[in-house]
Amino acid sequence: MELSERLQKIPPYLFVELDRLKNEKIKQGVEVIDLGIGDPDLPTPSEIVEVAKKALEKASNHRYPSNVGSIVYRKACVNYFKRRFGVTFDPEIEVLALIGSKEGIAHFPLAFINPEDIVLCPDPAYPVYHLGTIFTDGIPYYVPLTWENEFLPDLGSIPENIFRKTKILWLNYPNNPTTATASKEFFKEVIKLAKKYDFIIAHDAAYVEIYFEDPPLSIFEVNGAKEVAIEFHSLSKTFCMTGWRIGFAVGNSFLISALAKVKSNIDSGVFTAIQEAGTYALENLENLTTSIKNTLKKRRDLVVEELKKLGFEFKVPKATFYIWVKVPKNYSSQEFCKKLLDEKAIVVTPGVGFGKYGEGYFRIALTVEEKKLKEAIQRLSTLKL
Ligand SMILES: Cc1ncc(COP(=O)(O)O)c(C=O)c1O
Repeated sequence: MELSERLQKIPPYLFVELDRLKNEKIKQGVEVIDLGIGDPDLPTPSEIVEVAKKALEKASNHRYPSNVGSIVYRKACVNYFKRRFGVTFDPEIEVLALIGSKEGIAHFPLAFINPEDIVLCPDPAYPVYHLGTIFTDGIPYYVPLTWENEFLPDLGSIPENIFRKTKILWLNYPNNPTTATASKEFFKEVIKLAKKYDFIIAHDAAYVEIYFEDPPLSIFEVNGAKEVAIEFHSLSKTFCMTGWRIGFAVGNSFLISALAKVKSNIDSGVFTAIQEAGTYALENLENLTTSIKNTLKKRRDLVVEELKKLGFEFKVPKATFYIWVKVPKNYSSQEFCKKLLDEKAIVVTPGVGFGKYGEGYFRIALTVEEKKLKEAIQRLSTLKL
């Protein structure tokens, strides 16, 4: 039996050696501090769990859910959008429930990409943008996100002939892994280009509620976005609900209906009991997320201050629960991360895992309690470079 050519095009997993080393340490009884995983350690707020418990008991919820999401859930998405971004959507045609944003992001290219079409993918990035492209036999064109350009894609560097073949541009702000945020001016410029070359902007806003300074933007806060854009939202990070699998897409009704058509032929929607919990969460977002954000901010402040003292170079994150740090001189990102694991039992993610332009960086996830972060900093301070 042979794997499809499509699956064979998926790049090999880079971290086999790091995973082996980590498991070996754990087996030896070493206390490994894992700052690699982008999965909040905090529990889902108990009020949400209580709503879900009640919803589980309703027999009507045990049947197939609505493919596009219950109207109650979609209205909660719309109300949240109005409150948070001042933007109005029609819950019937401009909103779609997702089984987590990853599901929507991975399936979206199936609705628009033919073989050889170009998809502009940021690099470094969450890998699903380019993997979803490969699954449709489209061609990812990598747009570097560099320190010098504030980790925004340098759109001026993309040749005209590439733009002409472009069907989708992926964006992700607040950004994983670089933590950068985008301005209205940037979104305006991108929307202008999308209209000029007739491509879709697919904006992944999974971290839009994890912020410590000014609230990050939705692309729909900019005029004209509805003509060209779809935006992916997630309840995973916002409410520490990664395991529940719920998110939503909003945007241009044609783009939403196309994704809904793909999904209706692949999955059967989000469990209605989970949608009830999601509805409650979105309706009470402001109350439910304050303590999560305060905890993450305390962690960020602690690690930022200590990393500065140790002489590491990075931009202070305004959003997300990551820190994107330059690797010390004379190491590749994999070499440095291996050394950190080997000598100090700390796991961080080598930047190259997010793409070629991630080389030279490593990502710290602030997804462990403060005590462990302090211990990690202490260990880091004794690392001999
Ligand atoms: C940038 C980004 N987008 C989307 C996701 C997917 O989130 P979910 O599928 O849990 O909504 C993640 C998860 O790590 C992410 O980092």
